[in-house]
Amino acid sequence: MSKKMRSQSWFEDKGRNGFIHRSWLKGDGLPDESFDGRPVVGIANTWSQLTPCNSNLRRVAEFVAKGVWEAGGLPLEFPVMSLPETLMRPSSMLYRNLMAMELEEQLRANPIDSVVLLGGCDKTIPGLLMGAASVNLPTMVVSSGPKLNGKYKGEDIGSGVDIWKFVDAVRTGKMTQEEFVEAERCMARSEGHCMTMASASTMAVIAETIGLQLSGAAAIPGSDSRRYLTAHLTGRQAVEIAKQDLKFSDVVTIGAIENAVKVNAAIGGSTNAVLHLQALAGRLGYDVKLADFDRWGRDVPMLLNLKPAGKYLMEDFYYAGGAPVILREILSMLNADEINVMGKTIAEQVSGAENHNEEVITTVAKPLKAAGSAIAVLRGNLCPDGAIIKLSAADPKLQQHRGRALVFNSIEELEAVIDDMELDVDENSVLIVRNSGPRGYPGMPEIGNLPMPKKLLLRGINDMVRISDARMSGSSYGTVVLHVAPESAIGGPLALVENGDIIELDVKNRLLQLDVSDEVLAVRRLAWKSPLEEVERGFLKLHHDHVLQADQGADLDFLVGNSGSAVPRRPF
Ligand code: FES
Repeated sequence: MSKKMRSQSWFEDKGRNGFIHRSWLKGDGLPDESFDGRPVVGIANTWSQLTPCNSNLRRVAEFVAKGVWEAGGLPLEFPVMSLPETLMRPSSMLYRNLMAMELEEQLRANPIDSVVLLGGCDKTIPGLLMGAASVNLPTMVVSSGPKLNGKYKGEDIGSGVDIWKFVDAVRTGKMTQEEFVEAERCMARSEGHCMTMASASTMAVIAETIGLQLSGAAAIPGSDSRRYLTAHLTGRQAVEIAKQDLKFSDVVTIGAIENAVKVNAAIGGSTNAVLHLQALAGRLGYDVKLADFDRWGRDVPMLLNLKPAGKYLMEDFYYAGGAPVILREILSMLNADEINVMGKTIAEQVSGAENHNEEVITTVAKPLKAAGSAIAVLRGNLCPDGAIIKLSAADPKLQQHRGRALVFNSIEELEAVIDDMELDVDENSVLIVRNSGPRGYPGMPEIGNLPMPKKLLLRGINDMVRISDARMSGSSYGTVVLHVAPESAIGGPLALVENGDIIELDVKNRLLQLDVSDEVLAVRRLAWKSPLEEVERGFLKLHHDHVLQADQGADLDFLVGNSGSAVPRRPF
């Protein structure tokens, strides 16, 4: 063995402690030589029946383990808290940091030399990455892979994106309830995560871009045999990186994070990636600002023709060549000598990538959308610490806009009247929902793509300017300003807007402005009362007391920059 493994501090002892550490594991049928100094590869599994997007991860774990055995390592699988995006209340995002904390402690406390992270559903990959970053062991990722394309009445339908359309079709009488239920059966028809370019697909591509997931793996469908092949090969390589001691932070550098932001622009990825990448960077000790996202992504054209901003789905992306084609296409804009877990530079990884369908993956010479359609960061007196808007999903006509505010204190308040034909709203109005930020609605729910008023839908108007301190699903679209910081529940200016105030959105100049004087706002502030209530116990209290604002990645303040230590708190 080239290097003494970390796990040997548990297993090499010849006395009582060594006996205890080895003996119980031998109860699982392990032979003596399992503890001879070979790398122990942890397989951190977020499989759960509550998380259908991760349902194939049990089998994926088996293939990782095969690869580990084959390469002379010892695989030990263990469960990690799972986060079902579709079920968790108030929001799976509330628990991302808890999950990261759980994994961090498990990795630190156990005899693990390298780890393979198995995730898929939206917050599971980010939570895994953040937890692993804080321990800084050699790390790899296998994502669950996207579902096959949904099929409804001969058409391809995509998770999330088409649900929003079906909901509006039912509201306006264009779809029956029976058809709605039929579509429900047709959407999730195989294993894997959402197959639009939503948060899970985005984070899988990012895990590949930053070098932790094998090149070409992100887009392989969850039910394709090549996902299991990838898992097998990952198991083998996890043994190698343990021997080489190729740590998380050796692979995921600030250059890799910058690459991820650029690739996110090229794929039209989820706005959630902003929060996750910022939090991940923070764990690694990098102070990435919101402005960096704008600066890094601004010159990157959007190449990938996938829903929600385009036409196709992840299965098509895989057949067209997957993420390596995107990386090859924008190679000159990337830090091309960043390495992955195979020790290969990005340039080496993608040099042979072939584009099999230029309608799905367009080229820099003929992009789907020109540079400037990425995620833009706004400033102004309505969002002193920033807000974001996904331009590829927004109507260009609404990107320079002035309109009257129509304000709601919660999403529930808006939903109660959204179908009211007497609602005082027109296509120039600016819809606002507040109290939905990290603390106000713990975890910032994905409600930012506020529903369109029925009276406008019936007139064929499908988009309007909408503003909130919430997040939105990566599968959503619309001229939607998100992550307004500071959030209204702690007194951000969004708290002071009143019905009828004029709001200006000027994307070209990155401006979000409330046309009300400072003097008037100061008077309103005197009358403002925080809606936050005391939280007394549990993780919610920890979150409430320590969560950072959206412009800082919404991590817990005491976990930022606390990376690099794999030493147990109190060695036994
Ligand atoms: Fe799990 Fe979309 S709900 S990835």
